[in-house]
Amino acid sequence: MLEQMEPLLSNEEIEEKNREFEGKSPEAVLEWAIETFHPRLALSSSFGAEDVALIDMMWRIDPSARVFTLETLRLHTETYTLMDQIRMRYGMDVENYYPDMEQVAGMVKEHGFNLFYKSEEFRKLCCGIRKMEPLDRALGTVDAWISGLRRDQAVTRVDIGKVELDSAHGNRIKINPLAEWSSDKVWAYIHENKVPYNELHDNGFPSIGCAPCTRAVSPDEDPRAGRWWWESDPNSKECGLHVIETLDSIKAAAEKGR
Ligand code: ADX
Ligand code: SF4
Repeated sequence: MLEQMEPLLSNEEIEEKNREFEGKSPEAVLEWAIETFHPRLALSSSFGAEDVALIDMMWRIDPSARVFTLETLRLHTETYTLMDQIRMRYGMDVENYYPDMEQVAGMVKEHGFNLFYKSEEFRKLCCGIRKMEPLDRALGTVDAWISGLRRDQAVTRVDIGKVELDSAHGNRIKINPLAEWSSDKVWAYIHENKVPYNELHDNGFPSIGCAPCTRAVSPDEDPRAGRWWWESDPNSKECGLHVIETLDSIKAAAEKGR
């Protein structure tokens, strides 16, 4: 369980920051975040297009800015290649958080390697063990975290602020510098600054997660249609990093549905 903190910003201060940053560049948000919270600040990176753009921006502001990743052990080979490229290019010590192997072994023994295809409860259990619990450990080292969320990515994201109080993660401050940006803006930044990116993006993968849970999409499909594509409800297409659900409640639901 992630330890609860006294919020470092009041609700009024958060509202004020959001007013101040609306219409402002991601770099302006990052400069404030780094100045205020570094080194107890880190970008949570899956190395998707948004995250590599943010890495480049952060590195230009402060090369010692921190980046961590939740290494689920089920990523695409192309993602591992990109992670090595990013380390080389920016000389960054990306912090890897792995799942607790005892929990993974127990889950696989009980429900099989590819349990996520069997039900939404099992899919969430796998995300809980491979992503949510490691995220809690990562967030234990920070007061504030940065994510690459954008408002136009999903129905679940339309209301995100650039600065939020993350009550699901012990009152850490959560910062979404790209909240206002479109995918086109992200790509313009990547090309302009020659930022290394995942080659899967050139092969029909606008949104990339774990290999067994991501497929390519056609140009007329929703960009997130390839994530957990066998699940139909767009309101459930989240892996638990950005929604308020505990691993315990997910385990209870999986137990009930077995
Ligand atoms: S997800 O919830 O559907 O997987 P998405 O792929 O859109 O999320 O990514 C949104 C943001 O969540 C990323 O910009 C990143 O901040 C964070 N994120 C997602 N997956 C990971 C991961 N494996 N490791 C670290 N951060 C991640
Ligand atoms: Fe497991 Fe798929 Fe979630 Fe990855 S995206 S943690 S493989 S259910």
